[in-house]
Amino acid sequence: MSDRGSGLADIPADKLPRHLAIIMDGNGRWAQQRGLLRTSGHDAGAKTIRTVTTECARLGLEQLTLYAFSHENWKRPQREIDYLMRLLKRFLIGERPTLAENDVRLTAIGRLDSLPDAARAALDETIALSADNGGLNLCLALSYGARAELVDAFRVLGTRIAAGELAPEDIDEALISASLYQPGRDPDLLVRTAGEMRVSNFLLWQISYTELHVTDACWPDFDVAELHAALRAYATRTRKYGGLVDAPRDAVGP
Ligand code: IPE
Ligand code: IPE
Ligand code: MG
Repeated sequence: MSDRGSGLADIPADKLPRHLAIIMDGNGRWAQQRGLLRTSGHDAGAKTIRTVTTECARLGLEQLTLYAFSHENWKRPQREIDYLMRLLKRFLIGERPTLAENDVRLTAIGRLDSLPDAARAALDETIALSADNGGLNLCLALSYGARAELVDAFRVLGTRIAAGELAPEDIDEALISASLYQPGRDPDLLVRTAGEMRVSNFLLWQISYTELHVTDACWPDFDVAELHAALRAYATRTRKYGGLVDAPRDAVGP
């Protein structure tokens, strides 16, 4: 675990999430509140990704999963989509030195085949360039929908059953988890910016026991202090997974 510096020095390392997921919302509102175009909000939001990624890497987190573009975001006006896809390409190329400096490995989840060729090529190349970095896994959710992910997983399992490789009784929670886009540790903490109290089709299977933190700050305003506030809130949580923690014996019912 790296030095946590002044901001979080009093929080024990085992009280930090190992996997943090963030719904980066509010770019449009941030811009509109300033009389700017929504696209300026997306530009500002892209800068925030660097700040948050660098701090998560410094803190020694294992994974940061960012909801960058949803399966449902394809419904937006074509001009906004085109802007976001060009921004994505620029971001992926521009972040390569920062990923290298911070030992960050880029990965992605979602229906990546739906991305325009130029963005997809930049994504594949950045993933390949950073593949040997051993620090934080920065996972971008792109063209990602949790229901679409489950549909894709069930199709793979159905194909294996049809081929006689798998019996329906072989399906259990571990096999479904292993059939998702990127099997691994479920998020310990899910943060949503810009105040909405909803999950918007993000990681539905994986967040069954994830701790939640919602802040009113729009994503472009989510700075290191906001990140630390979320991590501090997480450090106070008691995770019980349906069980009891430190319950007195006589408190247990029939
Ligand atoms: C989040 O900001 C970025 C994406 C979903 C691509 P929004 O664009 O959703 O911003 P608001 O919610 O309209 O403010
Ligand atoms: C969720 O934000 C998706 C991303 C942050 C990429 P949205 O702005 O799309 O969510 P809704 O429409 O408010 O639920
Ligand atoms: Mg939004």
